[in-house]
Amino acid sequence: MKYKAIIFDLDGVICHTDHYHYQAWKHIADKLGVYFDEVINNRLRGISRMESFEIILEGYDGIISDGEKMRYVAEKNEIYKKLLLDMSPKDLSDEVKETLEKLKNQGFRLAIGSSSRNAGTILRQIGLARFFDAVSDGNNISKSKPDPEVFLQASHSLNVPPEDCLVVEDARAGVEAAAAAGMDCAGIGDAAKSDLSIYKLNTFSDLLRVVQ
Ligand code: BG6
Ligand code: MG
Repeated sequence: MKYKAIIFDLDGVICHTDHYHYQAWKHIADKLGVYFDEVINNRLRGISRMESFEIILEGYDGIISDGEKMRYVAEKNEIYKKLLLDMSPKDLSDEVKETLEKLKNQGFRLAIGSSSRNAGTILRQIGLARFFDAVSDGNNISKSKPDPEVFLQASHSLNVPPEDCLVVEDARAGVEAAAAAGMDCAGIGDAAKSDLSIYKLNTFSDLLRVVQ
């Protein structure tokens, strides 16, 4: 086998939470009178909550204190968390579920490497709470993607060296983080367009072909 472990980004790879992020950020943007659309929302993939807010604030003319920023970001997260309660195992596609099971049966160690501090909730909602061998997320890192920390923590928890890990990502920040961690990366969606994605996945199950 080319790799011993596969580290998956969560949002945009295993399941789709963009529309929930969008709705929650849209509420905050409307409150501030800032223009916000799906194109801007797409720029928030893979980066932390506060970094996302800073991007939204590029369209804001006024002055906003750090304390207010913290309050808006906390409010966004409360709205987002309520929306996540609508998620269920139906939000995990058959294709993703079957591919993950096949990879596990083939002996790969499987982990999550996500910037989100809500990763545990999302995994629980979609029925994957106990599926992965390790979960590295926004709660155990001090720097978000494109910093490699989240993937290095996953490789450490799995006890598999970076060169034996493959990362699966949908965000450019995540592809850069994988490269910085010294890991090969399979890109899906937008990330497949990055030169740093060694493998370009048209669909999730293509993974079964590239890891052989
Ligand atoms: C990433 C998302 O998975 O998590 C980003 O792609 C998001 O858009 C980041 O900003 C942080 O998420 P959370 O759940 O901690 O606010
Ligand atoms: Mg993602």
